[in-house]
Amino acid sequence: MSNILRREATVLILSGLMPSLPVFGLRHALAAEYRGMVFKSPTCGCCADWVNHLEKSGIRLDVKNLKSLQKIKKTLQVPRQLQSCHTGIIGNYVIEGHVPVRDIRRLLTQKPKAIGLAVPGMPIGSPGMEQGDRNDPYEVVLFHKGGQRIFARY
Ligand code: CU
Ligand code: CU
Repeated sequence: MSNILRREATVLILSGLMPSLPVFGLRHALAAEYRGMVFKSPTCGCCADWVNHLEKSGIRLDVKNLKSLQKIKKTLQVPRQLQSCHTGIIGNYVIEGHVPVRDIRRLLTQKPKAIGLAVPGMPIGSPGMEQGDRNDPYEVVLFHKGGQRIFARY
């Protein structure tokens, strides 16, 4: 994520949208490689399951509940067609939706020039969206300003 995005995120916080979020919290999350934060609605169960999926493999997340996520998605430049239920920041990247932890690790290791990764919608069988044996096919999309490409397929 660019410095401009970081500044915008900080402005968002200072503007009072997220009064409960200390400014240093975001800075801290951005600075550490395997720490992050996630914005979700207070009632989202699959979001909590995805957070558990990450925490089990050692990625610590600061969870922030928001009534509406539209503003944070816009600020973090998540394209409309890639949007899902939650929006996170891990390392310098935006993580949208039920992205598997192995793809997040590959992203943090390879450090491509991008805004982040997204799993659009809420595909059944993705981490946090388990429903018995059902595994719907889905794609992890790497997105950047003005474009996107497929990062992984399941
Ligand atoms: Cu979800
Ligand atoms: Cu979610």
